[in-house]
Amino acid sequence: MIRIFTFLLLFISSVSAQIRPGQLWPDTDGQHINAHGGGVLFHKGQYYWYGEIKGKNSLAEVGVSVYSSRDLKTWKNEGIALKVSEDPNSDITKGCVMERPKVIYNAKTKKFVMWFHLELKGQGYAAARTGLAVSDSPVGPFVFQKSLRPNAGKWPLNFEEEWKKPRAGEDTLKWWTPNWYTAVKEGLFIRKHIEGGQMARDMTLYVDQKGKAFHVYSSEENLTLHIAELNDTYTDFTGRYITVAPAGHNEAPALFYQDGWYYMITSGCTGWDPNAARSFRAKDMLGPWEELGNPCVGEGAELTFKSQGTFILPVQGKKNAFIFMADRWNPKNHIDGRYIWLPIQMEGGKPKIYWKDEWDLEVFDKKR
Ligand code: DGJ
Repeated sequence: MIRIFTFLLLFISSVSAQIRPGQLWPDTDGQHINAHGGGVLFHKGQYYWYGEIKGKNSLAEVGVSVYSSRDLKTWKNEGIALKVSEDPNSDITKGCVMERPKVIYNAKTKKFVMWFHLELKGQGYAAARTGLAVSDSPVGPFVFQKSLRPNAGKWPLNFEEEWKKPRAGEDTLKWWTPNWYTAVKEGLFIRKHIEGGQMARDMTLYVDQKGKAFHVYSSEENLTLHIAELNDTYTDFTGRYITVAPAGHNEAPALFYQDGWYYMITSGCTGWDPNAARSFRAKDMLGPWEELGNPCVGEGAELTFKSQGTFILPVQGKKNAFIFMADRWNPKNHIDGRYIWLPIQMEGGKPKIYWKDEWDLEVFDKKR
């Protein structure tokens, strides 16, 4: 009798396939999924979830994980997609910081292309670089190619000719004063990094409606987002980029497209602590971008339900069905960080996110 009851319970839970934000999320081996700051790629009928493999602290001791799923609830650990290097001279040597890996597929080269935020070992967050790794298979092995600061020698597209010259006294301006805001908008940090390339920390990748890929990263000391075009193989920057929300302090960018608009959800900058999310929209990836406010609604909205966004996942086979993927970081024991996945709904042309203790993909079939 008990056996039948247990079987029924298992059967019902597998059929209803609930997503439970903030709870432990066991993979098919029963281990809590270890794919933090992640992103999802859909390829040939399977979803692949890539993320940071965390231990107790936040350093990269192992690399980037990959899990596969057909239903977005049951995830199989496919192992290490990108391994840190044992070579102390490698940019991705064990003990570096490897964050927010994202993977896109390039149909022309048939390669899976991963970009991630890289901080060189022993340098804290000073290096502010992005790394590239490439694979023939979605589950890897990804092979590390290079790391760089993007767009050396290139000025943003939304930049005026007279902003290219340094101004007297600009380095002594007090942060967060009106003159300093103007100076940031008019290239204070861009000018500092024009030779070596722009700083790149929190990041995502996005392929637009025309198949152009973009690397979106927190730049200029995390003050300003850059949206930068990648080349046809997705393995380099073309030099075409824009600045978004200068001195707006945006991290954790995530994007989706619906009914003629690109939407972007970001966070503020408070380390591992949560803060209020922000949202933006634009008709074109290269702007102009318009700010829409905090997309979260209800209790906990001011702290993004104690989480920070990482990716927006388009659900296959359903129209306008997007999941906001976020991390509830646990800096005391990073491996125990939880995943907050919530459906996005549009209200008055703005993305909105409500807390749910548990939910399933059928929410997208209901009239919204
Ligand atoms: C916030 C970022 O979003 C995370 O990816 C990580 O870099 C932490 N800051 C580090 O404090």
